[in-house]
Amino acid sequence: MTDHIAIPRSFSASVPLKGRIMIPGDKSISHRSLMLSALAVGESRVTGLLEGHDVLATAAALQAMGAAIERRSDGEWRIHGVGVGGLLQPRKALDMGNSGTSTRLLMGLVASHPITATFVGDASLSGRPMGRVIDPLTQMGADINASPGGRLPLMVRGLAPAIPLAYRLPMASAQVKSAVLLAGLNTPGITEVIEPVPTRDHSERMLRGFGAELSVDTGADGARHIRIRGEAELKPQVIVVPGDPSSAAFFIVAALIVPGSDVLIANVGLNPTRAGLVDVLRQMGGDIETIDAREVGGEPVADLRVRHSALKGIAVDPAVAPSMIDEFPILFVAAALAKGRTTTTGLDELRVKESDRLAVMASGLAAIGARVEESEDGLAIDGTGGDPLPGGATIAGHLDHRICMSFAIAGLVSKAPVTIDDVAPVATSFPNFEALLAGLQQ
Ligand code: S3P
Repeated sequence: MTDHIAIPRSFSASVPLKGRIMIPGDKSISHRSLMLSALAVGESRVTGLLEGHDVLATAAALQAMGAAIERRSDGEWRIHGVGVGGLLQPRKALDMGNSGTSTRLLMGLVASHPITATFVGDASLSGRPMGRVIDPLTQMGADINASPGGRLPLMVRGLAPAIPLAYRLPMASAQVKSAVLLAGLNTPGITEVIEPVPTRDHSERMLRGFGAELSVDTGADGARHIRIRGEAELKPQVIVVPGDPSSAAFFIVAALIVPGSDVLIANVGLNPTRAGLVDVLRQMGGDIETIDAREVGGEPVADLRVRHSALKGIAVDPAVAPSMIDEFPILFVAAALAKGRTTTTGLDELRVKESDRLAVMASGLAAIGARVEESEDGLAIDGTGGDPLPGGATIAGHLDHRICMSFAIAGLVSKAPVTIDDVAPVATSFPNFEALLAGLQQ
């Protein structure tokens, strides 16, 4: 693990945001494109890959397990896969940095290969629960030695052949679903994941795209039953990664709350399992126009024209939570500027993200003068009705990129500057965030 150098930064009241920005590649899809390419037989090509630290951690781990991964000067990535079952024993610990997705999905891959891998990460990742993947992967035969509380550092000794499993997800988690499906790739027979609450379906879409035999049915119980036939042969692909709606979210909200703004946000992935924020902001009165809806890499994509709007508070339906699970921090900022009360519930998963996002957002928003009440599973926020927030506080980012970016946007609508103690984590998912913001302030 490399030493961390903190980068403090202040954000203050902004001129109207104007212009056009292009959103970088989707983090979830980028991880999966590297992993499945690494398991295909032959050369895959990926363009639009998110070159953030999280995705680079996945690339480095796959290289350490035998895949040849190369970035060409034109931004295209070429990956020579080793074939399902062909991952090699890494020679040193796999450094996952801040990335929960890298950790949990790669644990799934290792679990059904005859190799042993040690996973390490930064302070944030080392505090996050891994029991949720340790349980099903152990049932499939992997031997996993974790630090107390099921945390990193941990060691996975895979089993090949692994034991196929039918696993009902105890929480709505695309990472757990994906870990089991990826373990199923090298497991004889059918591995099944039963998903009572739908979560992002990028793994299902991409596994099929690579030629795996995967079916999705709705059971009598209303749950999604996802079945994958193991010992699959994956065929190399040419992949175009669409823009990340979770990154676009910061600029959508910024354009809505900074007076006078009018921004075109290009290349926004709008997979229905990810697009909850746009619906919620429209319910709040947000002027978000969809332009040029199209398909990129098997995923729905559009450009969004977003104009400053008078937002009003609403009760957010907890059923939308999985389709905007990473967008609540920035939604809370929008709520702090809306007229009236916004309430959210059913968000206990936010407590186990890169930070406890309910606690950290509640205390940070209170510090800059917003009116917030924290409950066990949500926040209630009484907005200013569009008036600026007082600001004038230093916020601890807790090594959480989405907390840093949310308070950066809050600074744009605050009377006194909002300082973030360390914005370095932004580079995990959105390396050009500040550059794009500066471009809209010209
Ligand atoms: C992700 C799933 C979500 C999300 C994370 C990325 C994925 O996590 O918060 O940023 O790529 O599968 P959970 O599975 O923990 O909900």
